[in-house]
Parts: sequence; structure tokens; C-alpha cells
Amino acid sequence: MAVSLTLGIVKPDAVAGGKTGKIVAHLEEAGFTLRAARLVRLTPGQAEAFYGVHRGRPFFADLVSFMTSGPCVPLALERADAVPALRKVIGATDPAEAAPGTIRKLFAESKGRNAIHASDSDENAAREVGFFFTEGELAAL
Ligand code: RTP
Ligand code: MG
Repeated sequence: MAVSLTLGIVKPDAVAGGKTGKIVAHLEEAGFTLRAARLVRLTPGQAEAFYGVHRGRPFFADLVSFMTSGPCVPLALERADAVPALRKVIGATDPAEAAPGTIRKLFAESKGRNAIHASDSDENAAREVGFFFTEGELAAL
């Protein structure tokens, strides 16, 4: 299992609800190392570009509206097998279907307002980490 990077985003519902610290602690306890983090409010253009794969889907406008509704916290996260490990830790898209103990089961309100994003492939992880962070920001400390 190679050590790799993935992108998580603490979404606006969780930031506004004061859950950022608890979610980061949960990730660290699950073995992830923070390589970069920031607080940012996405513009509509940035949210549309980030979730471009979903353009045209019925939930796209609501997704962009939600992701721009307040600040979010993108996180570059390092771990062995980071992409599948983070997907497992966050749980299913809909918190009603998420496994017990997952971040979405613990902290998400609904399928639309679901607390955290995670990259879904190594290819998308590389693109998404690069969307928010430069190589210099990811340099080993
Ligand atoms: P994410 O990309 O944010 O990590 O979520 P995901 O992989 O679990 O789910 P995805 O299919 O990529 O959908 C992206 C986000 O769009 C919203 N969504 N709403 N109302 C709906 O049917 C619906 N479907 C998707 C969710 O906020 C989901 O996280
Ligand atoms: Mg997704």
C-alpha cells in the first residue's frame, strides 16, 4: 500500500456548524496526516469547475449553491491508500445510508448537506489537490 494524497473538503454546513475541528480530529485518528489546509469561500465559478463532472445533473444547481453558501475547508490528506481510505471514513453520500461511525453518519444533515467531500479516484485526487494547493504548499515540512 503506497502512501498517497487525497483531497477532503469540510463542507459549508459542517464549517458553519462548528464541526471542523471534530472532523479534522476524526481524520487524524483514522491515520491521515494533514499536508495542507485553508479556509476559503468558493465563487460560483470555482464550485462549478470543481464539481464539473456533475454539470447537467438535476442536483447541480443546488450543489453549487450549497458549496458557495459559506466558507469551506479544503484539506490535502496523506495516508497509505488515501483515496479508498478516505471514502470509507466519510461513508455513503446520504447520511441515512452511511455506516455507523463514519463522518457523514456522525456529522451530516442530509444527502445535499453532507459535511465532507472526498476524491473518488487517484486521478481526481491529483486534480482536486492541485485545484486548491500548489506544489510548494504541499512540500514536506
Ligand atoms: P462528494 O463528491 O462531495 O465527496 O460526494 P459523493 O462523491 O459522495 O457524491 P457525488 O455523487 O459525487 O455527488 C456530489 C455531491 O452532490 C450532492 N448530491 N445531491 N440530491 C441528490 O440526489 C444529490 N446527489 C448528489 C451531494 O452533496 C454529493 O456529496
Ligand atoms: Mg463525488
